[in-house]
Amino acid sequence: MLFKFLFILFTLFSSYLPAFAAKQDIAHALLKWKTSLINQNNPLLSSWSLDQTTNLTRINRTTTTAPCTWYGVHCNDHGDVTKLNLSTSRLNGSLENFTFSSFASLTHLDLSLNELFGSIPVEIRYLSKLMFLDLSGNHFSRTIPQEIGMLSNLETLSLHSNILDGHIPVSIGNMSKLGYLRVDDNKLSGSIPRELGHLDNLVKVNTSVNFLTGHIPSSIGNLTKLSELYLYLNNLTGSIPPSLGKLSSLKIIYLYMNKLSGRIPDELGNTKNLVLLLFGHNQLTGSIPASLGNLTKLEILDVHENLLSGVIPQELGKLESLIQLAFSHNALSGQIPGSIGNLSRLEQLFFNDNQFNGSIPKELGYLTSLVDMLLLLNRLSGPIPDSLGNLTKLEQFALHDNKLSGYFPETILNCKKLRYLTLGNNSLEGPVPKSICSLRSLETLYLGSNRFSGGIPQCLVNFSYNLTVLDLRLNRLYGNIPTTFLKQNNNLKTLNLNGNQLQGSIPRTLIDCRNLEVLDLGNNKLTGGFPHWIDTLPEMQVLVLRGLLPINYFKNFKAIMAIDRAASRELYMDGKFMYYDTVELGVKGLRLRLERISVIYNTIDLSVNKFEGEIPETVGQLRSLRFLNLSRNCLTGRIPTDLSNLVQLEHLDLSSNKMVGKIPVQLASLTFLVAVNFSQNQLQGAIPQGGQFNTFDSSSFQGNNGLCGFPLTKTCRNDGVPASLTPEVDQDEDDGFFNGFSWESVAMGYGFGMLIGLGIGWLVFYSGKPIWVIRIIEREQFRHEGTSGKIHGIGGFAATRARKRNRITQVSDVRSSLSF
Ligand SMILES: *[C@@H]1O[C@H](CO)[C@@H](O)[C@H](O)[C@H]1NC(C)=O
Ligand SMILES: *[C@@H]1O[C@H](CO)[C@@H](O)[C@H](O)[C@H]1NC(C)=O
Ligand SMILES: *[C@@H]1O[C@H](CO)[C@@H](O)[C@H](O)[C@H]1NC(C)=O
Ligand SMILES: *[C@@H]1O[C@H](CO)[C@@H](O)[C@H](O)[C@H]1NC(C)=O
Ligand SMILES: *[C@@H]1O[C@H](CO)[C@@H](O)[C@H](O)[C@H]1NC(C)=O
Ligand SMILES: *[C@@H]1O[C@H](CO)[C@@H](O)[C@H](O)[C@H]1NC(C)=O
Ligand SMILES: *[C@@H]1O[C@H](CO)[C@@H](O)[C@H](O)[C@H]1NC(C)=O
Ligand SMILES: *[C@@H]1O[C@H](CO)[C@@H](O)[C@H](O)[C@H]1NC(C)=O
Ligand SMILES: *[C@@H]1O[C@H](CO)[C@@H](O)[C@H](O)[C@H]1NC(C)=O
Ligand SMILES: *[C@@H]1O[C@H](CO)[C@@H](O)[C@H](O)[C@H]1NC(C)=O
Ligand SMILES: *[C@@H]1O[C@H](CO)[C@@H](O)[C@H](O)[C@H]1NC(C)=O
Ligand SMILES: *[C@@H]1O[C@H](CO)[C@@H](O)[C@H](O)[C@H]1NC(C)=O
Repeated sequence: MLFKFLFILFTLFSSYLPAFAAKQDIAHALLKWKTSLINQNNPLLSSWSLDQTTNLTRINRTTTTAPCTWYGVHCNDHGDVTKLNLSTSRLNGSLENFTFSSFASLTHLDLSLNELFGSIPVEIRYLSKLMFLDLSGNHFSRTIPQEIGMLSNLETLSLHSNILDGHIPVSIGNMSKLGYLRVDDNKLSGSIPRELGHLDNLVKVNTSVNFLTGHIPSSIGNLTKLSELYLYLNNLTGSIPPSLGKLSSLKIIYLYMNKLSGRIPDELGNTKNLVLLLFGHNQLTGSIPASLGNLTKLEILDVHENLLSGVIPQELGKLESLIQLAFSHNALSGQIPGSIGNLSRLEQLFFNDNQFNGSIPKELGYLTSLVDMLLLLNRLSGPIPDSLGNLTKLEQFALHDNKLSGYFPETILNCKKLRYLTLGNNSLEGPVPKSICSLRSLETLYLGSNRFSGGIPQCLVNFSYNLTVLDLRLNRLYGNIPTTFLKQNNNLKTLNLNGNQLQGSIPRTLIDCRNLEVLDLGNNKLTGGFPHWIDTLPEMQVLVLRGLLPINYFKNFKAIMAIDRAASRELYMDGKFMYYDTVELGVKGLRLRLERISVIYNTIDLSVNKFEGEIPETVGQLRSLRFLNLSRNCLTGRIPTDLSNLVQLEHLDLSSNKMVGKIPVQLASLTFLVAVNFSQNQLQGAIPQGGQFNTFDSSSFQGNNGLCGFPLTKTCRNDGVPASLTPEVDQDEDDGFFNGFSWESVAMGYGFGMLIGLGIGWLVFYSGKPIWVIRIIEREQFRHEGTSGKIHGIGGFAATRARKRNRITQVSDVRSSLSF
């Protein structure tokens, strides 16, 4: 009887026992791992405790006991642990003590978005039933183990956003059920394995934002189910395999920012389901295949910044779904085909920086969805067609740097949403119409370098609260400068009227432009005294005015008092294209191609003037100053000791003044000083020794009778007076060069933030508004700031061209500084 009872009891229990034992094993394995975590007291894991096993009295033990009841643990009806989902659980630790062998029944493992680090253990191969593996958004490092290829049931593999390096394992070609592969945003190198072409079930592949090299394997053309292919931001070379034309399911292909060369294959015209094609920033050559005109579902065709040539095929007019067409920055030529006017859904047309010629086709007036039209930097001629006035959704209209002629296109004034209108550097003539003031959304108006004549409409300085840039320079405008600047909410940052025939005095109402950063009134016929009040404008950064300036001028340049200030320059990026790179810096005679972005460093250059008086101690507050040139003036007094507060200072030139006293020893602490020039003054005493001063040669100090000590040959007596008073021989000055050369600008405040700002503006400019670019750059920017300090860490300064005339320019290639 008893025996029978025990037997029944045993059979009753035995059905539970294996599962029970396995669960115990898993429970212990999880607890062991929990103990290895740095934050094992994580409240989310408080349910992970064996106290609950005392609940064994319950009848249905399969799914209601530990660990099935634990946070993130999921069991099937048989009590097998099948899913472990600890996504976003703030886990901090490694997988070193995760006993993979205990989890043989696991089908889903989701550890994404935690703080896990260390390598992905080879033991992961024990998860032989695994269908879903997501380790993304952690700090996993080192290589992806070959053994991962043994997870032959895997359908989803997400390892993105870690710091994995090494190659993508070839064994990946063994995961025959894989449909979804993400290894993007790591540090993977090597090539994309050919074996990927074996994975018939692949639907989506993302390997972007890595350091992958080599060719795109043509075997990818075998993946008949492939719908999304993201390979952007790597260093892939070779040509785009024509086999991709076989991918009849392909909807999205992103290959931008690689080093792909060769032609765009005609075969791509067969991928009839393609919606997004982004090939920008490569080295593609040849012409745009006419076959692309067959991609009637295409919404984005972006091949900007390549080496494409030839004409735009007429057939592209058949791309009826197109929303964005980006051909910027290639070598495309010929006329813009009128068939483009058929693209009725088009919102962005980026044809800038090519060699298009002929006139702007009037058919573009049918593009009534258009928001951005960038045709700048081409060879377009003839008048601006009236039909463009039909584009009532237009916000950015950039035609500058072409050969357009005729009058200001008045129909454009129907485009009430215009924020950005640049017609500069063409051959437009006639008056600037008053009615332009009806464009109340205008933020940037650049009409400079044309032949506009007549007066400046009064309303032009108060019609839009949003106007930040007003550039009418180098025209034939005459009359007075308008006086009715907006009193409140005046956002004007740039006022450039240089090179006209303006008369009268500088209006005192300019003081209402509290945000003014750039004021250029040079080369006019202005009269009256110097507007001393102007130095109370708080943001003033670049100023060009003919005449004398008071030396206390720059104490109001709050703009460069804080190093971080540069960040505010990013105001300019804001999805618009950068005005500065083409325009503001162009005025300095730099023929910039847009790929090269100028950066004017934090600089004060007041050299070659007639400034008198002493250098104020306040100069020491301009902490982000890197270049200070006050040479060739009539400055007197002592060198301020506070100059030693300018910790970023690289170049200091006080030569050819009448300065007296000693060179402050504190200057020896300026570790970035590359060059100094104190020559031709009346300085006295011992030259400071040590630090960077050991690297300067005697020419930096010549022409000061009272100076002594290294590097001069004159030694100092104990009291710091030269041992002998034989005068140093004066250097011959090449005064000829400077004769008649008056100072041109005071420029400052363009720091690292500006560089990045320019970079972003520039990319957006070329490629429209794709958020991806901005994100990438933000990320890069973040990485750079993280790794390399704020101002000094810019790796890629291509060249410092301190030309004599443009002594304050520095040119940098944004791409190299962002490590694209
Ligand atoms: C993993 O377990 C071993 C042995 O129990 C121990 O020595 C090691 O410190 C543990 N690792 C971590 C990260 O806790
Ligand atoms: C046993 O399970 C019940 C119901 O799930 C729960 O309310 C109780 O707290 C558990 N007992 C222990 C000791 O965990
Ligand atoms: C145990 O519970 C699960 C759901 O919680 C249920 O599907 C299953 O039928 C139960 N088993 C027994 C033996 O009651
Ligand atoms: C894991 O849980 C998160 C929400 O907490 C959910 O978004 C995700 O889809 C889950 N993963 C799996 C594999 O079920
Ligand atoms: C994770 O632990 C490491 C090592 O103790 C620590 O440096 C890091 O700040 C922790 N991360 C988080 C997000 O708590
Ligand atoms: C793929 O699987 C086959 C058969 O299991 C095996 O022979 C081969 O070594 C595996 N390849 C890799 C790269 O792991
Ligand atoms: C592809 O990878 C990039 C880089 O990590 C990421 O930003 C993007 O969202 C991914 N896209 C898809 C569809 O997976
Ligand atoms: C590409 O290669 C260049 C040098 O060849 C390197 O500087 C750059 O960082 C690489 N970029 C990527 C995304 O791999
Ligand atoms: C895959 O593509 C390659 C190259 O395009 C080809 O040689 C190979 O035969 C294809 N393999 C399969 C299984 O279709
Ligand atoms: C477009 O496709 C048609 C067939 O659908 C084909 O006859 C034609 O040649 C293709 N056009 C181009 C330019 O490839
Ligand atoms: C477009 O503009 C032209 C010229 O201004 C005008 O004649 C025509 O009627 C406009 N078309 C539409 C559809 O508005
Ligand atoms: C001015 O700019 C603001 C902010 O961008 C915007 O909300 C507002 O609509 C603009 N005003 C006009 C008249 O466009």
